[in-house]
Amino acid sequence: MPTRRTMSTIAASALAATIVSVGTGGSTSVAAGAAGPTARAVDPACAAWMDPKDPAAQRARALVDAMSAEQKMHMVTFGDLPPYLLYYGTAGHVTGIPELCVPDLVLSDAGSGVAGLQLGTTTFPSGVAQASMWNRSLQREVGRTIGDEAFDKGINVMLGPGMNIARTPYNGRNFEYFGEDPYLAAQMVVPFIKGIQSNPVIADAKHYALNNQEVDRMTVDVTVDERTAREIYLPAFEAAVKDGDVGSVMCSYNRVGGKYACENPTLLDDWLRDDWGFDGFVVSDWGAVHSTAPSAMAGLDLEMHAVPFENPVATPVFGAGEGKYFAAAKLETALADKTLTSARLDEMVRNIVRPMFELGLFEQPITPGLPAFLSTVSTDAHKETARRAASEGTVLLKNRDDMLPLDTEGGRTIAVIGYAANPLGALSSTGGGGSSHGSGLPPQVVSVLQGVQSLAQEHGDTVVYTEGSSVIDAMLVASLADIAIVVAGDGSSEGSDRADLSMSPQVCVTLFCQKLPLDQEQMVSTVTGANPNTVVVLDVGAPVRMPWLSDAAAVLLPWYGGNEHGNSVARILYGLDEPSGRLPQTLPVSEDQLDFSPEQYPGVGGEQTYSEGMLVGYRYYDSRRLKPLFPFGFGLGYSTFAFDDLQVRRAGSGAVATFTVRNTGTRASSAVPQLYVSSPAAAGEPPRQLKGFDKVLLKPGQSRTITLRLDRRAFSQWSTRADRWIVTPGRYGIQVGSSSRDLDLRSSIVMGR
Ligand code: BGC
Repeated sequence: MPTRRTMSTIAASALAATIVSVGTGGSTSVAAGAAGPTARAVDPACAAWMDPKDPAAQRARALVDAMSAEQKMHMVTFGDLPPYLLYYGTAGHVTGIPELCVPDLVLSDAGSGVAGLQLGTTTFPSGVAQASMWNRSLQREVGRTIGDEAFDKGINVMLGPGMNIARTPYNGRNFEYFGEDPYLAAQMVVPFIKGIQSNPVIADAKHYALNNQEVDRMTVDVTVDERTAREIYLPAFEAAVKDGDVGSVMCSYNRVGGKYACENPTLLDDWLRDDWGFDGFVVSDWGAVHSTAPSAMAGLDLEMHAVPFENPVATPVFGAGEGKYFAAAKLETALADKTLTSARLDEMVRNIVRPMFELGLFEQPITPGLPAFLSTVSTDAHKETARRAASEGTVLLKNRDDMLPLDTEGGRTIAVIGYAANPLGALSSTGGGGSSHGSGLPPQVVSVLQGVQSLAQEHGDTVVYTEGSSVIDAMLVASLADIAIVVAGDGSSEGSDRADLSMSPQVCVTLFCQKLPLDQEQMVSTVTGANPNTVVVLDVGAPVRMPWLSDAAAVLLPWYGGNEHGNSVARILYGLDEPSGRLPQTLPVSEDQLDFSPEQYPGVGGEQTYSEGMLVGYRYYDSRRLKPLFPFGFGLGYSTFAFDDLQVRRAGSGAVATFTVRNTGTRASSAVPQLYVSSPAAAGEPPRQLKGFDKVLLKPGQSRTITLRLDRRAFSQWSTRADRWIVTPGRYGIQVGSSSRDLDLRSSIVMGR
């Protein structure tokens, strides 16, 4: 059970109000931080399930056994009023049952910070930028901080991380996710979940499953072969359950194999519960439920919706409010006609309360209310974590003649150009649109202009700014400056896909976004054409075209960098931070490199086939021998590295690889050694697949021996015939290097014999 808490910002009076009084004769110990609740006397009526020393499953059984039918039905659906964001800016809630000591369950978005209409929270870099960090420990810290802020805001379910795979660069929600590779995504979501859940806060693995586009998002029916699903689209979810012990999983809007995800026994029962052993609750995406008994019997535990009736605000985003399928009256009918069993209803409630016990939600209940809603929970330490994450998630794509970092002699004129660079533009270009978008209130985003201005002043440089919307302005300002920093924005948002790989910024007010008619490509081309010392900064959520690339001196890809974006970019420019990110997603040269038939994307007549199979992202480029603009795993950083001495040996049912990495440059820098496995032809796998990585900070000249453990799964293929993972016997290639296309070290090992 997570131990908390220093009650940082919640008023002591609010804490006092949470403490359930009345002694039991036996004192009950509570996991608590130094200044946290020390002892909570337990209502005797709840004694059977309120001993934190008892296993969560036992406590869940005892509680459900004590519940009336009415109380059980209350637990499996959301409180109607006040709806959605009106309940303290959150996404929804299930009111607690005080007479049974059941605390409120308050759910909020999500993956880049406590979002929705929350005030005073930190916005971190979005999921794709977190994936770019390739840094598990920093990712855990990001998750821990988000969970900490959630708790203080009176929230105990964080609706993230989102972990769908970037199947196409067009998906409007790719910015929330962890890129195109199942191994990297799995490795990055697990520490995030553990970080969130180190607080009395449940994380949520979403959107389960095969929810990889926003076109027809409420209905599209995905056909995929099981091997592709198991090897590409499910591993992050599987790891979230098996390694992250995630407390909840969100079933998605779409259909899979003809059935809606929230009433799909294959997804919910067979894979999630039976195969992976999930013991938390399945919550529906908001409005993703279409039936009562079929959903409940298939494995849905908790129904959610924004507002359960048609209305002009929520309906366009969440679909029509078709009513509440888990309303007591409907459940009673289903119980009466025996399409729903009472045993299943009990199980649904047990699934909901089990992670609540496990993660300490009963011992440390939240205190939703006005004080929490109005409080500011973002601290300097949290902002520092956000800034470190932003810098580690920024990928340096180009750095002609080591233009970056800038030397610190001062006395230069630096032109900052672009709508996205100014404080207004930065409000929307540092995060994507939709449910993950924070309120941004009170405003605390540091824009690139602000960040560069403050460091330039310290260094004796002068900053001039133009929005760059007119070609003449952009050209004039750029050509008169010593250095130009042009910041281009591209909006991605929940609810729609991108039409192509061009860039245009958007303005978002929480869920609602509007694209702006600002031609970013033309602006960047103008600036790079006018000033040879131009640094291009891409505030984008997904791959974009770069027709101006050869003219740019340097290119930084911070994705959506969150509140500290401007400070991070400025520190990177002046060499105080390193842009140590690596691409979690291939950047195509242009749309022409992508080869989706309409049946594959976006689907025809509401149906879609993933007939490309496992050839997603770099697996596709490698198998077709295509040269992308920048390959998966690529990122320059501020130094160079040499890889040597690869040794691979069998260890248990897997293998161990060791090699050395040496910093061959002149600056301290983070190396991200990556290990790819090539399977024997008989295994029928894509040419190579990431199976291990590390991130190590090395001083100039310093060497380090890296050891990467490869478990059996690194050499396994899903056999649909055998219904399990198998290792095709043969020789497996092992390649190590600095990106999926730069793999100098090669070895091999025989497995499966
Ligand atoms: C989104 C989810 C989100 C939920 C609650 C839905 O529209 O798909 O990701 O958690 O809303 O805001």
